[in-house]
Amino acid sequence: MMQIRAITGTDIKAFQDVMKISIAGICTNAYGATTTAAWVSDKNPAFHFKIPEFAFLVEEDGQIIVVGGWSLTDKVDLHPNSDQVIEKPTHARINAVYVRPNFEGRGLGQHMIAHLEADIMTRSSVRDVYLWSTINAIPFYQAMGYTGGIDQFPEVAEGHKIQVRYMWKRLG
Ligand SMILES: CC(C)(COP(=O)(O)OP(=O)(O)OC[C@H]1O[C@@H](n2cnc3c(N)ncnc32)[C@H](O)[C@@H]1OP(=O)(O)O)[C@@H](O)C(=O)NCCC(=O)NCCS
Repeated sequence: MMQIRAITGTDIKAFQDVMKISIAGICTNAYGATTTAAWVSDKNPAFHFKIPEFAFLVEEDGQIIVVGGWSLTDKVDLHPNSDQVIEKPTHARINAVYVRPNFEGRGLGQHMIAHLEADIMTRSSVRDVYLWSTINAIPFYQAMGYTGGIDQFPEVAEGHKIQVRYMWKRLG
């Protein structure tokens, strides 16, 4: 059980659906139903649900129960909006860890983070990892060894800004 695998082209829509279901189901307490509904709306531009460069999932009984991914970057960027080739990456960004509602608290998030960090160490020489945590997920990332920095207020849908926290960890 809990076997993590890399995503394939046919998983893309299901991967994005888990992101949306997780935001709507789990982040609503932090940001309110109006904002999360606008965030996950099909009318919202697709870049909000971009698939990470290295993306993984776990399935159970034919449904995806956790997704996650990371990318190489050369700066601490809140909204990377291009797929440029990074010649000399300095950082790895964890773009996503989303657990399906009703599957939280079973160690799935922790399992995915451990996999992403091991994948970063295997695939690259980069050891500085950062992410932008939603408010609800800060205690989770702290438990995973991430340190909190500044807060920012990106627009997740037109007219809807949310508080997120920069968090970082040095691997190794
Ligand atoms: C945040 C999230 C990924 C955590 O995943 P999870 O599978 O529920 O977390 P785990 O069961 O692996 O928890 C690992 C540890 O984190 C800590 N933790 C997790 N959630 C916590 C919370 N809400 N408050 C305090 N500590 C928490 C605990 O120490 C836990 O260890 P323990 O169970 O031994 O006490 C999940 O709740 C989620 O998908 N949320 C919605 C989407 C989201 O916000 N994603 C992050 C966007 S940046």
